[in-house]
Amino acid sequence: MKKMIELIGDELVRAFEQCSYDSKYAKVSISNRPDLCEYQCNGAMACAKEYRKAPIVIAQEVVEVLKDNDIFDAVEAVAPGFINMKLSGKFVSDYIEGMRTSGKFGMEENKNPQTIIVDYGGANVAKPLHIGHLRSAIIGECVKRMGRFLGNKVIGDVHLGDWGLQMGLIIEELRCRKPELSYFDESFTGEYPKEAPFTISELEEIYPAASKKAKENEEFAKKAHEATLKLQSGDRAFTAIWKHIIAVSVADLKVNYGNLNVEFDLWKGESDAQPYIEDMINDMIAKGYAYESQGATVIDVSLPDDKKEIPPCIIRKSDGAALYATSDLATIIEREKLYSPDRYIYLTDKRQELHFVQVFRAARKTKLVKESTSLEHLGFGTMNGKDGQPFKTRSGGVMRLEYLIKEVNDAVKARLEESGKIVGQEAEDTARIIGLAAIKYGDLSNQASKDYVFDIDRFTSFEGNTGPYILYTIVRIKSILAKFSQENSMSDIGGFKLLPAATAEEKRLMLTLLKFVDVMENAFAEIAPHKICQFVYEVTDAFSTFYNSVKILSEEDTARKQSYIALISYTKEILEAAIDVLGFEAPERM
Ligand code: ARG
Repeated sequence: MKKMIELIGDELVRAFEQCSYDSKYAKVSISNRPDLCEYQCNGAMACAKEYRKAPIVIAQEVVEVLKDNDIFDAVEAVAPGFINMKLSGKFVSDYIEGMRTSGKFGMEENKNPQTIIVDYGGANVAKPLHIGHLRSAIIGECVKRMGRFLGNKVIGDVHLGDWGLQMGLIIEELRCRKPELSYFDESFTGEYPKEAPFTISELEEIYPAASKKAKENEEFAKKAHEATLKLQSGDRAFTAIWKHIIAVSVADLKVNYGNLNVEFDLWKGESDAQPYIEDMINDMIAKGYAYESQGATVIDVSLPDDKKEIPPCIIRKSDGAALYATSDLATIIEREKLYSPDRYIYLTDKRQELHFVQVFRAARKTKLVKESTSLEHLGFGTMNGKDGQPFKTRSGGVMRLEYLIKEVNDAVKARLEESGKIVGQEAEDTARIIGLAAIKYGDLSNQASKDYVFDIDRFTSFEGNTGPYILYTIVRIKSILAKFSQENSMSDIGGFKLLPAATAEEKRLMLTLLKFVDVMENAFAEIAPHKICQFVYEVTDAFSTFYNSVKILSEEDTARKQSYIALISYTKEILEAAIDVLGFEAPERM
């Protein structure tokens, strides 16, 4: 279906042309004064300059043409030259009927679907998931879902940090603790055990202990570094330990991401890029892109109009080690080979911005990607506590994700039990669903690049612009529909006809709903999940005003009642589709 704004635009184009004005002035926008009108055209002002006429005269001429058009209820020229429009109620309800019956909310088929890699999550193996990775998971999941909703082929990759110094640290610490393991016996030639020599809890304790030790003990740090190099050059014993670390960690990460309703198509990591590195560097040197500088191998990536200096991208250190940038470049080679994406979107903390500028420029310069391929980094801000400092636990440590989730869920459960309607296991399960909405909506409703304050009290409130309030609206509609279905069949609702709105409140709800696909497209074009949140909140607000202005179930006029039911049921459908893209869902009751 054409967008509402395009349909109105078409009428305006015709009217401008009929009055012999250039149709480029016939631009329509949603009114920023909803108290005065629903849509507006401000083109008469710009048009006035070209045609040397008063804008109000132009606006009046155009209005004269539009006056008899039955898509409008009212069209007015207002000083100095605005054209204000109100749509006819029937045109609006017919449009929503079109959305309802065309499927997929009236969205047109995506004729040029793109293949998009979303690189998000970015957890580091063997280190517990902490809230630093939370935003990447939440925003990335939403970006992936937005892309899919609009008909693209989107591949989500967790891109684990599975190849760094942490591996050497763990290996050496393990050697100190369990020197008797066959991995440390140089003369061992048999098969290494299938069973990992540690559990996830041990692993999570080993890494911080080793990392602390390395800071205090130079000898240990050196050994860990050597162990890392040995692993990276393919040592059999260390590779076996490394595989255990990955397996144990990934199993745990899957549970954690699962609890966040975050799902990756690919569980690849930095290690998958390793086989490409050697050839890549040789090739870059051979083609003259990379050169030796103070023992390291670098690619110049600065450009003449850079406002600040962009240092060269180092792809090999003087000791021969590969770096973060090396692995990101080699990963591009693999992704080109396997998926040949049109677009790459990376999500990390915005402090990694320079890294991605360097990597993207190096990738373009060395022609790893086609010119038309888009490389984008969405750098997000920090999640702060109420004190404005990065969010910490009560004891001041870095908050682990599971504890944060638990704290939120407990807060929600307490609220549920306060009301007394839901208790015990149901309260527990429902709190988990609502808690996730509280966390995700609290995050996504902010512009991603900005820092924000994670305020558990506010985020878990059932009132205001919060995740729980959005769910509450959906639950409320579910409960009206459930009452309705006691005497009627739910399956009939699809066939109920939507009548033109009887009141301003009802019309406002319809005008809000019909923007859905437009909002989704804009939000994805700008990679701006907060725009979906704004829309969702606008819908809940319009719904609740409408709901308070009518009696739905006791309406006596059957056709009107059925129309109300169709409208709220469609409101629910749109809200559910929108929150699914945001990455959470509504409970049955709350
Ligand atoms: N593991 C990295 C970190 O914890 C994030 C990885 C992001 N993705 C990438 N391709 N660099 O900072």
